Amino acid sequence: MNTPADKKYRPAVIEVEGISAYYRDNSVLENISLKVFQGEIFVIVGESGCGKSTLLKCMIGLYRPDDGRISIRGTDLVSAEDEELQQVRKGFGVLFQSGALIGSMTLAENISLPLLEHTDLPAEMIDEIVRMKLRLVNLSGYEDYLPSELSGGMKKRAGIARALALDPQILFLDELSAGLDPVTSAGLDRLVKDLNAVMGTTMVIVSHELNSIMNIADRVIMLDKSTRGIIAEGNPREIRKNSADRRVYNFFNREPH
Ligand SMILES: Nc1ncnc2c1ncn2[C@@H]1O[C@H](COP(=O)(O)OP(=O)(O)O)[C@@H](O)[C@H]1O
Ligand SMILES: [Mg+2]
Repeated sequence: MNTPADKKYRPAVIEVEGISAYYRDNSVLENISLKVFQGEIFVIVGESGCGKSTLLKCMIGLYRPDDGRISIRGTDLVSAEDEELQQVRKGFGVLFQSGALIGSMTLAENISLPLLEHTDLPAEMIDEIVRMKLRLVNLSGYEDYLPSELSGGMKKRAGIARALALDPQILFLDELSAGLDPVTSAGLDRLVKDLNAVMGTTMVIVSHELNSIMNIADRVIMLDKSTRGIIAEGNPREIRKNSADRRVYNFFNREPH
């Protein structure tokens, strides 16, 4: 499926310009620039350890890059004061790779946490929002379950419900389907596409699952561990067909496992 026509010509919501990131003396990202447009599903791909999670952390203001600029709807994250950063981050929903729910709390309690922390809504309204978010991810009726009573895919969906609690404009998902079976993984892909279509939420997703990338991405960038830069950018189908770069071609033309 190509990028739907109505996703073209939308404004950029995230602009990354020439960022570099280091851990101590180890360079991980060098001179990375990209734009994420409103309402698109933008996927970051590349082999393990190439800096995908680091780039995501830069984009949500959790890691300050050593160089460059990141602007979210016009606010520069790199130079922002803490308070301004907090304000911008309220507009983000995030599910980390290890994004565990709190095991001793029910799903309803987990999902109400961001609402209790960031709003003054009365308890009945929070309950209603929690029910609504669980319905969105097809977990109606699981309000009183503990995370340990759910399958891996259901936990991920509950994590998405929590990330959606504050109606974010941008949803960041790191390795959503890592370690899940193909059927569960395909279900999560469908959910991501449905949420994007229904709510228009901009999605920034880290993935190395080729099937998933081909299914959901409007646009992808591929990071490379040795050059620490972007080696491909664009529509995944066009990249698969047209890339002249061996590393890129091989990644996008792997046999599905
Ligand atoms: N907190 C950290 N301290 C030191 N090195 C790190 C840290 N986080 C990640 N790294 C290193 O940075 C590189 C990129 O990591 P990461 O962004 O997690 O890659 P990916 O998500 O693509 O697997 C890896 O070599 C990793 O070992
Ligand atoms: Mg990672």
